Amino acid sequence: MATHELYTRAPDEPNWQVPSAGSARFSWEYDDGRDRLLALYQKGKDKQWDGAKRIDWDLEVDPYDPLGTPDEAMSLYGTPHWAKMTDKDKGELRKHYTSWQFSQFLHGEQGAMVCAARIVESVPDLDAKFYSATQTMDEARHAEIYGRFLHEKIGLLYPINDNLQALLGDTLRDSRWDMPYLGMQVLIEGLALAAFGMIRDTTDKPLPKQILAYVMQDEARHVAFGRMALRDYYKQLTDAELREREEFVIEGCYLMRDRLRGVEVLEDFGIPKAQAEEYSEQSEYLALFRQLLFSRIVPCVKDIGLWGKRLQQAYVDMGVFEMGNSNLDLLMAQDEEIAEKLDAERFAAEEQERVAEVDAAIRAGDVQ
Ligand SMILES: [Fe+2]
Ligand SMILES: [Fe+2]
Repeated sequence: MATHELYTRAPDEPNWQVPSAGSARFSWEYDDGRDRLLALYQKGKDKQWDGAKRIDWDLEVDPYDPLGTPDEAMSLYGTPHWAKMTDKDKGELRKHYTSWQFSQFLHGEQGAMVCAARIVESVPDLDAKFYSATQTMDEARHAEIYGRFLHEKIGLLYPINDNLQALLGDTLRDSRWDMPYLGMQVLIEGLALAAFGMIRDTTDKPLPKQILAYVMQDEARHVAFGRMALRDYYKQLTDAELREREEFVIEGCYLMRDRLRGVEVLEDFGIPKAQAEEYSEQSEYLALFRQLLFSRIVPCVKDIGLWGKRLQQAYVDMGVFEMGNSNLDLLMAQDEEIAEKLDAERFAAEEQERVAEVDAAIRAGDVQ
């Protein structure tokens, strides 16, 4: 079914146009790649997978509880509104909230695809262009998968959140070639990755778990790429240039923390905006979720060398400063392991089923 028939409300415009700024760059040096980057490019090629085959799309999803979300995790939980809701209303709310969240993942993946393609175009070195070309393909596959999940299993989509769109626009309009990395690879993907991880590790529903685990396996490469490229480049920048990047990060982090909370879902349930914001602000679960959203960004910006006083202070204010000490390499290695383990378990279960079928066929043969 056409997506425009599934949107809760029509997107502002059917095609969003962001005028290009900056140069397309060619490199005529074909034999001078950095080993680590070329190794990542090789890995990107080796680890391509097809969502149409790897994901078990026959698994059923209850659109009224797609993720098995506990009551306490709903932002309305414990409010006077919640007390008035019937079970049917609550199911409807779960459906809308999951739709909103996965729709932002979907639009974010399209954004990641466009940014990765922009990097192919604008980055000066060929090794980075090669790598980013594989990432462009990864992001296309992710957008395809989230789109399919929403169309086939939920049947409802939300337009892109205004603030996510604003950050994406700022990222793309900037002519400095490192900005798509910083805005997309570090900020937007960092947030997305943390959100994917929280759902992957808490949902008991097999289909969304598969989707998130496999997508995260690819994202581990993307983060590695952003870190490698920016760490090298930021060593050469002046203090003033670094501060500009830090300001961008600070602003982006506040914006995403305060404005990406699904308030539009509550508005759809007839709750006035100011009240909806208050509910989201008061929800203990959401407060924890918002903090955890920074678990991937903070160690990453520290690692690439954006760790000036103002940025540190901003993270202290947000209560996420300590996250700078978490081990990104370990988190990424775990993301890859979880996907591989899930494959192994599924493979073992299929193998068992196959053996049982063969046994049954043999027994049936014996009887005859
Ligand atoms: Fe992605
Ligand atoms: Fe990505």
